[in-house]
Amino acid sequence: MGVQISPSILSADFAVLAAECERVAGAADWLHVDVMDNHFVPNLTLGLPIVEALLRHVRTPVDCHLMIDDPDRWAPPYAEAGAGSVTFHVEAAHNPRGVARDIRAAGARAGAALKPGTSIDDYVDLLPHLDMLLVMTVEPGFGGQSFMADMLPKVRRAREIARNDGLELWIQVDGGVADDTIEQCAEAGADVFVAGSAVYRASDPAQACRRLRAAAQATADASWWCA
Ligand code: DX5
Ligand code: ZN
Repeated sequence: MGVQISPSILSADFAVLAAECERVAGAADWLHVDVMDNHFVPNLTLGLPIVEALLRHVRTPVDCHLMIDDPDRWAPPYAEAGAGSVTFHVEAAHNPRGVARDIRAAGARAGAALKPGTSIDDYVDLLPHLDMLLVMTVEPGFGGQSFMADMLPKVRRAREIARNDGLELWIQVDGGVADDTIEQCAEAGADVFVAGSAVYRASDPAQACRRLRAAAQATADASWWCA
């Protein structure tokens, strides 16, 4: 599939969300929508009604990142609403494999996310049931934090497993991804890049997406995992 860019609207102007989404149309592969419940993470953003409303107004596929408790119950409705990809946190799920199955059954790609302190080795058996693994490169909850380079070995390990086991697994990174960090992520094996402040704090968000894509693509093309 190659490099994909998923701008996070967490850094956009929530008062004019549809217009903010339109600013990256054509330059972004996805719109990354961060759902936070003030339980799983200490922040509150938006939920299903706003995602449903956005889906009626945007052309770009929606990539929901659910930072919420009990995704077993709450994740499938985002897929039913028409999100193209729904990612839940393994730390919050009672039955991660069941959540992935339900998301897929409702018609979306299923993603699972790992917080920085969560080891990938505990979830190797889950990977064949996923379409995407999200390796968090900040503590989930807020935009604009510093990139955690010590998460790169986890990205590399995920790519190794996917490659060795022949899995069609996209590997997403989220948190602090910007012009000065995206190449390290691509080199380690990531292929889906979430960027919030790097896109929406730029004067031209579409141009920021194109610049990030070019940097990631050039690095990926020259990387061990793409060979
Ligand atoms: C943080 C969210 C991210 C956030 C990234 O918990 O999951 O998607 O918007 O923001 P930046 O790119 O600014 O680190
Ligand atoms: Zn996110």
